[in-house]
Amino acid sequence: MESGSRLKGKVAIVTGGASGIGAETAKVFAGHGAKVMVCDVNDALGNSIIEEINTSGGDATYRTLDVTNEGRWSDLVAETVELHDRIDVLTNIAGISGRDPQQNIQTTLTAGGLLEDQSLEKWNQIMEVNATGTFLGTKSVLAPMRDSGGGSVINISSICGIIGSFANTAYHASKGAVRIFSKSAAIQYAADGIRVNSIHPGFVDTPMTQPGHANPEVAQKRIEATPLGRFGTPRDIAMGCLYLASDEAAWITGTELVIDGGMTAN
Ligand code: NAI
Repeated sequence: MESGSRLKGKVAIVTGGASGIGAETAKVFAGHGAKVMVCDVNDALGNSIIEEINTSGGDATYRTLDVTNEGRWSDLVAETVELHDRIDVLTNIAGISGRDPQQNIQTTLTAGGLLEDQSLEKWNQIMEVNATGTFLGTKSVLAPMRDSGGGSVINISSICGIIGSFANTAYHASKGAVRIFSKSAAIQYAADGIRVNSIHPGFVDTPMTQPGHANPEVAQKRIEATPLGRFGTPRDIAMGCLYLASDEAAWITGTELVIDGGMTAN
């Protein structure tokens, strides 16, 4: 595990911490001295991540959390404060693409069908996890962050929250909501020393994107659209989270950090 002290003494909650970007962020945070609450709905994977962190000398605790459940958020915040006395950092990373698992052969740059074929049920599910989950998480940590003199909320949006594409309007809409929600929350809570920022990854190789990347045609299209010529790694995004979580970013709030290999510069 990487080691440093950029988050020494801080307590961080990481949602979606069982897999991909969330798991890597939890590891990087722990490696930099944070006490990390790893939260997810995938208990087996989540527990394996904290085991890895704790075996390498870090301090991580796993808690089951469905980010759409407001009651569980209250419990988690209470449990975290009881265990560690404070909350300094929240990274809202849990998310779903809404990709149909039956859709094994993906032919467009982004996954998902046409708007006309999108059911209301699917739309609501994507909005609920990606956008409402971010709202509930942010709302839940405000009081303890205020009590400890401030904090940093990092919301994982996407380049899909900045630009449109051919497919998956619900995913785009949910990530656009995360982007502008973060700016409004930043303004409302700046006086409390609570910073709120969004991160906008391009195509990162994780279990979410691997079904698409397994199709060489899609993988090639995505890499060709990325000026730096490769997929992002979970670490590329985790390092952005580390910066925004640390005191190095003390004067940064309401901003959007794009980490996309140059894709949206084009
Ligand atoms: P992933 O699928 O590897 O990880 C997502 C995690 O969220 C999983 O562990 C899953 O169990 C958890 N999760 C899903 N629903 C949940 C719920 N209701 N409550 C709690 N946890 C839940 O995916 P990845 O790629 O690591 O994605 C992380 C975030 O980054 C997501 O918000 C995604 O939309 C975003 N993102 C990913 C990109 C990529 O290319 N992989 C690009 C841009 C954004």
